[in-house]
Amino acid sequence: MEDHLPQSVRVERRPVSEHESRSANGPDWDRYADEYQATHGAFLGDAGFVWGPEGHTEDELGVLGDVAGLDVLEVGSGAGQCSRWVRTRGGRGFGLDLSHRQLQHSLRLDEETGVAVPSVRGTATALPFRARSFDVVFCSFGALQFVSDIDVAVGEVARVLRPGGRFAFSVTHPTRWMFPDDPGEAGLTATQSYWDRTPYVEVDDESGVVSYVEHHRTVGDWVRLLAAADFRLVDLVEPEWPEQHDRVWGGWSRTRGLLTPGTAIFAAHLGTR
Ligand SMILES: C[S@@+](CC[C@H](N)C(=O)[O-])C[C@H]1O[C@@H](n2cnc3c(N)ncnc32)[C@H](O)[C@@H]1O
Repeated sequence: MEDHLPQSVRVERRPVSEHESRSANGPDWDRYADEYQATHGAFLGDAGFVWGPEGHTEDELGVLGDVAGLDVLEVGSGAGQCSRWVRTRGGRGFGLDLSHRQLQHSLRLDEETGVAVPSVRGTATALPFRARSFDVVFCSFGALQFVSDIDVAVGEVARVLRPGGRFAFSVTHPTRWMFPDDPGEAGLTATQSYWDRTPYVEVDDESGVVSYVEHHRTVGDWVRLLAAADFRLVDLVEPEWPEQHDRVWGGWSRTRGLLTPGTAIFAAHLGTR
């Protein structure tokens, strides 16, 4: 859900390793965090749980189910808004994020709201927790589409969940990959293959260094990734754009949202066998 493109950056499509993805995205989120929180903080709510730019909340959708009394981990927690919501509902919410600056915003909101979310800096592909530590793991547009080794990340979620644990995550709806990331009419014409998984890469023109990466998985890829890690898919929510909602967030807009899905929320339970 990035919506910035500095002028000195060129866009490419090419394979990138996990190391390259992480080395780019950590510093990128550090640079972008202040603007991100200033632009979207009020929409997200300091202790609010929004699943995506359509504005649907966990209170409305109930994807996670009751979290009271449960150990809940948010991967790619940013400023911890969702985990703070979990805490207000009686869950023990914990955050993990790659970006130091995002976590500083989380601390700021801890102090401002009086609801603290214990959080750690880390990456989705190496969760710093013992096996079977959590009842619920979730990501609201956090981490997963920034990770190259996605099988490792999903495996890590399975490892830290207790048997029967719940995993839910929102990502850019896979069908969006076909369209230019443009909130206007131009964003309604398919220009590239849905099946082309080559990552989106931003490269700093002067230094040649990769400065931002996003990865694409099809709906089928997600289903197979979950099944391979012993998850049972229980829902795939495709939130509809609310008729009156007129907020633009990067490539998400009313113009596109009324016609095509922008967000996919996968919900799964651990343990199929
Ligand atoms: C779009 S933000 C979402 C944050 C929060 N859920 C929200 O709605 O504001 C994505 C977050 O994922 C984090 N992130 C990116 N790559 C990550 C990784 N490999 N491991 C953990 N977090 C990562 C970023 O630092 C950023 O805070």
